[in-house]
Amino acid sequence: MPRHAIGCFGQQLGCDASCEPAGRKQLHKRVCWPMPRLPMTKSDPQPAPREEPDPRRYVALAPAPPEGPLELEQLLPAGGEIELEIGFGRGQFLLQRAQAAPGSRILGIEIKRKWAYVVEQRAKRMGLDQVRVFGADARELLPRMLPVGGVTRVFMHFPDPWWKARHAKRRLRGPETFDPVARLLRAGGELFIQTDVEERAQTFIEDLREHPGFELPAGDYIADNPYGAQSNRETRAIADGLPVFRILARRTPER
Ligand SMILES: C[S@@+](CC[C@H](N)C(=O)[O-])C[C@H]1O[C@@H](n2cnc3c(N)ncnc32)[C@H](O)[C@@H]1O
Repeated sequence: MPRHAIGCFGQQLGCDASCEPAGRKQLHKRVCWPMPRLPMTKSDPQPAPREEPDPRRYVALAPAPPEGPLELEQLLPAGGEIELEIGFGRGQFLLQRAQAAPGSRILGIEIKRKWAYVVEQRAKRMGLDQVRVFGADARELLPRMLPVGGVTRVFMHFPDPWWKARHAKRRLRGPETFDPVARLLRAGGELFIQTDVEERAQTFIEDLREHPGFELPAGDYIADNPYGAQSNRETRAIADGLPVFRILARRTPER
């Protein structure tokens, strides 16, 4: 027998069950509010099996990088330009980019292992063989990657602002981030950063202007994302009418 939502004492809008007769002094609210329905008996429809595992298991399931030097030519399938996304989150950009640029090979690094696992599974289901992801801290991985100058594009979409002072050490900024990025990018290679936090964008501009390995276009920002793919945060910022500050720096030829 179907059960009505918890909290519904009568035949309510949106309730598909025969509720208790409205003899309960009409104290109920006018609309059933959504509450989880738990199976009461074996004959009740059982919930579909969880697609995702218990969060505690992500540590074991997330794709981990090997120890030692990370040879990109060995980690990725042969051929095509190498692109790197740092902090891909839910992975919309990574997956869309792999579809928009099928000739490229893309490595994603995400510190949250849950998302690394989920995005890896999605890439597999979508048959995106040129995608590889690691659940790891990019600051630890970037200096281990080889070859020097082997990457054509690096993407950083909406890096966390880390407002709290105690989180400052987790910031992806300054020479600690941009030295290893510059080491990996080939001459003329692209570093694309976007954020909806103007103050944050300006700190990136300052960092990159000071860095000998990068040059910025006049006017600092570019109007559009040229990569045929949007990150989750970018899609939300656009839907919310927020400004998006986009920086496209190029690797200078000097090493
Ligand atoms: C604000 S979210 C944006 C996610 C995604 N890029 C987007 O635009 O939708 C920032 C992401 O960067 C990841 N992140 C932060 N620091 C990182 C690090 N050191 N290494 C790898 N990922 C990092 C966070 O876990 C988070 O998923």
